[in-house]
Amino acid sequence: MNFQLTEEQLAVRDAAREFARSELLPGVIERDSEAKFPKEQVKKMGELGFLGMMVDPKYNGGGMDSVSYAIAMEELSKIDASASVAMSVNNSLVCWGLEKYGTEAQKQKYLTQLASGEVLGAFCLSEPEAGSDATSQRTTAEKQGDHYLINGVKNWITNGSSASIYLVFAQTDASKAHKGISVFIVERGWEGFVVGKKEDKLGIRGSDTHSLIFTDVKVPAENRIGEEGFGFTYAMETLNGGRIGIASQALGIAAGAYELALAYSKERKTFGKPICEHQAIQFKLADMATQIEAARLLVYRAAWLKDQGEDYAHASAMAKLYASEVAMSVTIEAVQVHGGYGYVKEYHVERLMRDAKITQIYEGTSEIQRIVISRKILR
Ligand code: CAA
Repeated sequence: MNFQLTEEQLAVRDAAREFARSELLPGVIERDSEAKFPKEQVKKMGELGFLGMMVDPKYNGGGMDSVSYAIAMEELSKIDASASVAMSVNNSLVCWGLEKYGTEAQKQKYLTQLASGEVLGAFCLSEPEAGSDATSQRTTAEKQGDHYLINGVKNWITNGSSASIYLVFAQTDASKAHKGISVFIVERGWEGFVVGKKEDKLGIRGSDTHSLIFTDVKVPAENRIGEEGFGFTYAMETLNGGRIGIASQALGIAAGAYELALAYSKERKTFGKPICEHQAIQFKLADMATQIEAARLLVYRAAWLKDQGEDYAHASAMAKLYASEVAMSVTIEAVQVHGGYGYVKEYHVERLMRDAKITQIYEGTSEIQRIVISRKILR
């Protein structure tokens, strides 16, 4: 067993850390307040190769391993989880499946643009009545000769208004339930495709989350990924990897809040000494550091299993379940360490606390992760 990061992984960590501090930190409070998407910053992330990290270089990707991706996600999420979710969705939920299951023509046309960060992608599974219960898709895709007509509504779609390429799940045969779900590549601007309401959220306020409305959207048959009926398996397999991305995001949010609390505890004095010299604060810091380290081991192991070509579905669910709960508890404690200062925006920890909550919800709630884990244990 080797816990040491490689030279390449360390270089990725340093580059991501530097980028987060120099490019994401300035303006992060304002972007959160104004619910402003970090457009320029995400563009630079593309130029630096953060949006297609694991894709084969022949499709403009970085050809890196999943551990490097988890490390980069952690570093960016320490500062700006709104930027890092755009990265996570593009890498894990859009590029990964296209590379694994797309045709060569789909990869040349779409993956090359997505992996280079020239355009952003979105993953459109959730619906008003199909969140955790993802098999209950109401969106339909009706085959008409050489194309399909898509009708329906998708909800809470990350990169909703900033994406150009959307992976849309729809029922092609409702009588077959989840085995009748298919997945299609839909381009922004196609007739009948409208970006709907923007959500006003508790956290990750810079991430643009929208509903999407499809009315008789004509999608060429060659834009279906895989066979008809493959969509649900495609979604589940994609989410197994996506959960490593969100687990890394949760880890980063926790680590970012902890680093701020640690630094503050050395500066702030009460009762004649820095608060880090009070045992009440020392114990909080010790618990935070231990939880973060345990979360990091679960996250890296899930990523490593994926890199080894092993089954990683339950490992990614465990990593996401644990890291997201650590993100919540560590950020709450980081606010507490900061006292009154922690409750105001200037000190960043209240934002991290709000951002942490979504990691227990999206890409499968904590309850869904427990379903995935318990099914594996009981199988
Ligand atoms: N990996 C691979 N396959 C899986 C799987 C997994 N983790 N979980 C289920 N499957 C397969 C099953 O093997 C089964 O296949 P067969 O029919 O061929 O046997 C099929 O999927 C259906 O599974 P179940 O019978 O278990 O279906 P279910 O309805 O009882 O449970 C579920 C399925 C696990 C609860 C699933 O609906 C689920 O994961 N829900 C959560 C959805 C989710 O994570 N949504 C996130 C939206 S995307 C997002 O948040 C992106 C963003 O913006 C950041």
